[in-house]
Amino acid sequence: MPLNVAIVGMGNIGNTHAGVYQKNPNCKIVAVCDIIKERADKAAERYGCPAFYSVQDMLKSGIQIDAASMCTAGVENGGDHYKPTMELLGAGIPVLGEKPISNEIAKAREMVALAKQKNLRYGINLNHRFTPAALRAKQWVEAGRLGEINIINMTMWINNPNESSPWFHIRALHPHSLDVMRYFGGDVEKVQAFFKRGPRKDGPGGRRVCWSNVQVNMLFKNGIIGHLTGSYDAGGSYGLERLEVVGSDARFVLLDACEHLYFYPRFSRETETYDYIGGMMSFSETFGSRINKWVEQNLQKVKPEEIDASGEDALKVQLVIEAIIESWETGKVVTL
Ligand SMILES: NC(=O)c1ccc[n+]([C@@H]2O[C@H](COP(=O)([O-])OP(=O)(O)OC[C@H]3O[C@@H](n4cnc5c(N)ncnc54)[C@H](O)[C@@H]3O)[C@@H](O)[C@H]2O)c1
Repeated sequence: MPLNVAIVGMGNIGNTHAGVYQKNPNCKIVAVCDIIKERADKAAERYGCPAFYSVQDMLKSGIQIDAASMCTAGVENGGDHYKPTMELLGAGIPVLGEKPISNEIAKAREMVALAKQKNLRYGINLNHRFTPAALRAKQWVEAGRLGEINIINMTMWINNPNESSPWFHIRALHPHSLDVMRYFGGDVEKVQAFFKRGPRKDGPGGRRVCWSNVQVNMLFKNGIIGHLTGSYDAGGSYGLERLEVVGSDARFVLLDACEHLYFYPRFSRETETYDYIGGMMSFSETFGSRINKWVEQNLQKVKPEEIDASGEDALKVQLVIEAIIESWETGKVVTL
């Protein structure tokens, strides 16, 4: 029996989810939904399923939906997820949401709580860590190849001129970087942050509205110390991201999520280099690996608490983000 999926929000990313479902022989797209009629109609034609213009109407149709993708956007790219997500969860449908889970913590908490109350699978598309290279590195960590992890450094930057709000950069981009850091380091205890607005000729005082550069010091609950560099004013030829995990016996460096993985033993010069593990060539392929994992976990009917990159994980990164903002606003180290 295939997994019957619905997609809500048929912009660029909704269509990216649909492309993944279309290629997966274990899935059937049974409904698409967008409040913009033309977008829903166009997608319905493309994927051969009915179009709906509200989640309520989609639910009333009686079509059997086993799981739904939530690909709305809104303020800081997450403001619109709440209402349709609550409607879907309320109707007992597992949801794979886009990131950020929400730009408002209270709403993120409510969605996570409703999924928990209804014992539903709720995942978020924190796709950057769904790569064979990250998995290989995780296996090294679990096998003890690094010894005890002391330091995690992460850099993520994507040239992005968008200026929708002062906190757009940290709230919309860094769920990804912080999720990867949590994947290797666990929960975060304390943060301390500095921001800088990049130059913009036509911006107020010649500056961007958005706090477009950030440096964050972090202390993980287990004692690991970490650092995040983030920017909307850098990227391009610098690559997308660089993760460095330093243990007592070895360190690894993972470049661009899936592209290059380097292993450096501390007491030997015999390094290891892996390129494009599993044949994954670029970040764009992480949509497929993440969404197909979601499909697999639904078909296997895994327990909601076993979902990879769950709503709860996404809520935790949003809490780190709000602590980072608070640190900058108060000039203090903030304990989560
Ligand atoms: N995971 C990633 O790597 C990644 C990359 C880029 C964007 N994103 C995320 O994907 C999401 C979507 O981005 P996008 O660029 O496709 O946005 P978009 O604005 O192009 O599309 C969103 C669509 O949702 C529709 N919509 C809004 N409210 C709705 C509702 N209640 N019911 C039905 N439809 C509704 C809008 O009409 C619009 O067509 C954002 O949250 C963004 O942060 C994720």
